Amino acid sequence: MSAPGTAPTETIQGWGGPMMEAIGVSRWFGDVVAVSDISFSIGPGVTALLGPNGAGKSTLLRMLCGLSPPDRGEIRILGADPRSDLAVRRRISIVPQQEAVFERMSALELVRLAGVLTGVADPDVAARDALAVVELDAADPRPVTSYSKGMKQRVKVAQALVNDPAVMVLDEPLTGLDPRQRRHLIDLFAVLGDQGRCVLVSSHVLEEVERFGSRVLVIAQGRLAATGDYRAIRDLMDDRPHRIRVRTDKPREVAASLLLYAGVQSTAVVAGRAGREPAVLVDTTDAPTFRRSVAAIAHSLDAQLWEVTPLDDDLESVFRYLVQS
Ligand SMILES: Nc1ncnc2c1ncn2[C@@H]1O[C@H](COP(=O)(O)OP(=O)(O)OP(=O)(O)O)[C@@H](O)[C@H]1O
Ligand SMILES: [Mg+2]
Repeated sequence: MSAPGTAPTETIQGWGGPMMEAIGVSRWFGDVVAVSDISFSIGPGVTALLGPNGAGKSTLLRMLCGLSPPDRGEIRILGADPRSDLAVRRRISIVPQQEAVFERMSALELVRLAGVLTGVADPDVAARDALAVVELDAADPRPVTSYSKGMKQRVKVAQALVNDPAVMVLDEPLTGLDPRQRRHLIDLFAVLGDQGRCVLVSSHVLEEVERFGSRVLVIAQGRLAATGDYRAIRDLMDDRPHRIRVRTDKPREVAASLLLYAGVQSTAVVAGRAGREPAVLVDTTDAPTFRRSVAAIAHSLDAQLWEVTPLDDDLESVFRYLVQS
């Protein structure tokens, strides 16, 4: 174990094992099991923690940083328990989910204060370095309260960076940002990961995670539902049964033809709403094939395709499926 204040890359090079490990970790609040028997281990680079609201993401992240103890199981950061090993505790930073309380201070003052509180050797230099990484101007005298949401989020990241952490945990940092601000932060995560840090970023938006990089931990109802790269998770989600509504001027013909194609288990023609044409309900476990063929089928029947709507494509039903399987 290296001394506190050592640059993370030195420790990372000296530490051969996983940077972050959860071993059978559980945590409950009264009757609510927030995190249930979760085990994983990850190394340097960006990893996404994906899960719907209430899945247990924040509870897990807080335990990983040593902010709260697991009721069962063990957390290992750089091989040590972050609650008992202070040297390791100093190598971890969290960007919390909650909006930070921004005093009427400049970005430099706020990040410098974070440096003082974490006991870094030269808080001023450390704060300027951290602001440079997140591409904010250390000379900007404006109070952070006047910043855009995206800039405020980057100040929070700079505060977390000021102690040059080996392990960084960010709890839903992209919530409420516009696409350009998201892009900027996602690029920043990649930079931090490339520096050899272990960066764990939580999200409840699947499409966001695609851009984080390859590794994903999926958590639902407190359990680790799936792990793998984004593609593997996406395939798993595509493999589940899908129900899709198709509206066309030739529902019976389209329904019959769809049945002949791979992956379609059943079709049903149901009455349309408000006097409209009947709709076709399709159940398929091969959504990609369905998506590829539906237009061609309509075309071959000379039918008009008015609507193709997945009826269960919300993330909640995807996670429900993953937890059941
Ligand atoms: N301090 C607490 N006291 C009681 N219950 C809690 C506490 N913290 C979390 N919970 C419960 O534990 C479960 C997991 O909550 P958690 O905040 O970890 O989920 P999350 O995935 O971070 O959700 P979100 O996407 O809404 O941030 C929820 O059922 C929540 O109500
Ligand atoms: Mg949360």
